[in-house]
Amino acid sequence: MTAQAGICAESNLHAYYLMFDVLPGQEAAARSALAKTPALWRELTQGYPDAAFSGLVAVGDRVWDRLYPRARPSELVPFPAQLQGKRSAPETPFDLFFQLRADRLDVAYIAVQRVMALLAGRAELKYERQGFRYLDCRDFTGFVDGTENPQGEHRAEVALVAEGPFADGSYVHVQHYRHNMAKWQRLSVPSQEDVYGRTKVENIEYDSDKKPPTAHTKRTSLKDEAGNSLEILRQSMPWGTAAEQGLVFISCCHTPRHFTRMLDSMFQADGAGHFDHLTLFTQAETGSAFFAPSLEWLVKSGE
Ligand code: HEM
Repeated sequence: MTAQAGICAESNLHAYYLMFDVLPGQEAAARSALAKTPALWRELTQGYPDAAFSGLVAVGDRVWDRLYPRARPSELVPFPAQLQGKRSAPETPFDLFFQLRADRLDVAYIAVQRVMALLAGRAELKYERQGFRYLDCRDFTGFVDGTENPQGEHRAEVALVAEGPFADGSYVHVQHYRHNMAKWQRLSVPSQEDVYGRTKVENIEYDSDKKPPTAHTKRTSLKDEAGNSLEILRQSMPWGTAAEQGLVFISCCHTPRHFTRMLDSMFQADGAGHFDHLTLFTQAETGSAFFAPSLEWLVKSGE
């Protein structure tokens, strides 16, 4: 089987994110539209070789059985919402998620128009956002994002289901975060660095014993009972309008459990009352769970 290129792709300059809900009665038509996406991804990749285009479509947990009643990825469950006082990570289900990335904005935009044409009359557009690389892959808080991501071949080991009918697919979680930049900018740089457990300009990780228990990298570096690291592949990119900034956070993994454990650890206080202090400076406004099947699976299941 062949994974959709957008799952493991290296970072790009531009992205468009689209989310749709399938219209009632349009399930068969939507299924056959999704079966055409592998050819569309190929056409765009080959048509604009300088653009490093990668496409990705993923199907939401709520719509899965309506679209594909015959087989379901065994771990596809709703987004694990969090609510801790004012800090929250809501669940906002969507049926389809598209990540359209390229090093050319025009090519990413052509992909948007092609996806819109493919789904016309079949699904309703519910969310759209443009993402872009900011400086040297920094988030708008000013810190480099993605440094500890899996590298090289390890990306596929982390992100893709290894075997079975859904081999080379990926569990995808997407959250739209809006930053409170005014509040963040009132923090001194050393205090900002404590929030992440890394230095800002040089992007150096704190020594483990120097990391506050509330540091983002502390709360998300987790191990299972056997001592193995729980890893995800993050494909997040910043977004910004004139008035607002934030991050489209995207996790791809061979299981949804790693993301769920990390989100728990970010939001829920431990025995000592510690939680991830990054959640004091950014608000998740959407949260959706999807599965991105292999190219072959999409084609075969649309027939
Ligand atoms: C690390 C930013 C949300 C999981 C980092 C780093 C930054 C960052 C700057 C340090 C550099 C790196 O290794 O990438 C953000 C921002 C977020 C956000 C701005 C939201 C607005 C999340 C969420 C999760 C997550 C929701 C998972 C539930 C991780 C992991 C690491 C990390 C696993 C690597 C930790 C390590 O091994 O050191 N993030 N992140 N992040 N983040 Fe986030």
